[in-house]
Amino acid sequence: MTMDDSEVNPVRLGIVGLGRAFMLMLPTFMGDERVRIAGAATGSLQKQRAFAAQFGHSAVSDTAALLANPDIDAVYIATPHELHRQNVVDALRANKHVLVEKPMTITSADAAAITGAVRESGREVIVGPSHSFDKPIVEAAKLIASGKYGPVGMINAHYYTDFVYRPRRPEELDRAHGGGVVFNQGAHHVDILMTLAGSMPIGVYGSVGDFDSRRPCDGAYSALVEFSNGCVGSITYSGYAHYDSDAEQGWIGELGTRKAADSYGVARQRLQQVDNEVAAKESRGFGDTGDNGPAAVAHEHFGTIIISCEKADIKPTAEGIHIYADDGYEFIPLPLEGSPRAEVISELYRVVRCGEKPVHSAARGYLNVAVCEALYESFRHRRRVALRPDEEGESALVTFV
Ligand SMILES: NC(=O)c1ccc[n+]([C@@H]2O[C@H](COP(=O)([O-])OP(=O)(O)OC[C@H]3O[C@@H](n4cnc5c(N)ncnc54)[C@H](O)[C@@H]3O)[C@@H](O)[C@H]2O)c1
Repeated sequence: MTMDDSEVNPVRLGIVGLGRAFMLMLPTFMGDERVRIAGAATGSLQKQRAFAAQFGHSAVSDTAALLANPDIDAVYIATPHELHRQNVVDALRANKHVLVEKPMTITSADAAAITGAVRESGREVIVGPSHSFDKPIVEAAKLIASGKYGPVGMINAHYYTDFVYRPRRPEELDRAHGGGVVFNQGAHHVDILMTLAGSMPIGVYGSVGDFDSRRPCDGAYSALVEFSNGCVGSITYSGYAHYDSDAEQGWIGELGTRKAADSYGVARQRLQQVDNEVAAKESRGFGDTGDNGPAAVAHEHFGTIIISCEKADIKPTAEGIHIYADDGYEFIPLPLEGSPRAEVISELYRVVRCGEKPVHSAARGYLNVAVCEALYESFRHRRRVALRPDEEGESALVTFV
């Protein structure tokens, strides 16, 4: 079956992890005929009840029981990062395709376990959603790949948000558990760079910032990522809720929703009023108040990105692509049609129903993890870390030079 066939055979999806990430994907799953939520695994009785009420399927308490269900084609894994390796490998061995949240894992050893399980199982892994699925990024990558503007030499990306002050589980702020912005948000930046540069990352020089002693965590990073085609990507992220780069997107937030320009300091103030932070985080998941906020009016985005090619600077935004070329300026509008995350379902459908290989594959997820890991190594040793591609050119080994 191809994507052009008119009859849609929905992917029957099982869910593992009914928290915040699932809530963010839920409108996309619900609004797309190419996918149907067919089961879930959760230890929470409250979530089991809420799931049965909303979807008409009982949620099981044991992930193994969900994976044994023959009426499930693929599994969406949205558990805490550290569980991804085990969850993904178990799902592959149970013959399911997998959509796993970013970051794929928090060590390259765990990522290698997943790429190995992909090879053995013949099933596929898609890592997503991530902001490299965003249409303006995809279209900008096509413009670069067309060669019209010459080779890409430099990509400058920055994003300043309130990440540090959103309600969190303790592990989300603990480096030992993949907490902080490097694995959480760097995974987006690295994925965007790989999409736009269109080549292998080969070196990383990076630094990590922990700027608020009242809330210790890796809340910022800045890194240079070198690619084999000569392109250099510069990525900077700060989650300290001072400057807000959504101002540069006409006050459209990361999820494509409108944001009040006068909401300065809100995350910090709200957190100060929270007594039980774990419960506050939990309440943003499924089966609780689960408020998803307003609907998107534009594409999702990940802050400011300027791509310098030989003959143009290209700037994708939530609303379109600005091109500052030798022969003049052009804006390509990209109005939102449907869900900003529809491309995640397109890739899932192509993999499960059309037998295609994923773009956001486990091998690519491995590279992403290796870059984030190398960023930490670089910071620890204050030197550039080289990534050496393996013989098949699909994964990377981290070495020091
Ligand atoms: N792409 C995005 O926009 C986005 C947004 C948020 C989170 N995420 C990613 O999603 C993942 C989860 O983050 P979150 O914010 O949703 O966390 P969360 O705490 O809100 O949700 C995690 C869920 O997993 C469940 N869980 C924990 N252990 C489990 C187990 N052994 N079996 C089954 N379920 C289990 C928890 O009960 C909870 O419901 C992380 O990897 C994060 O990086 C992605």
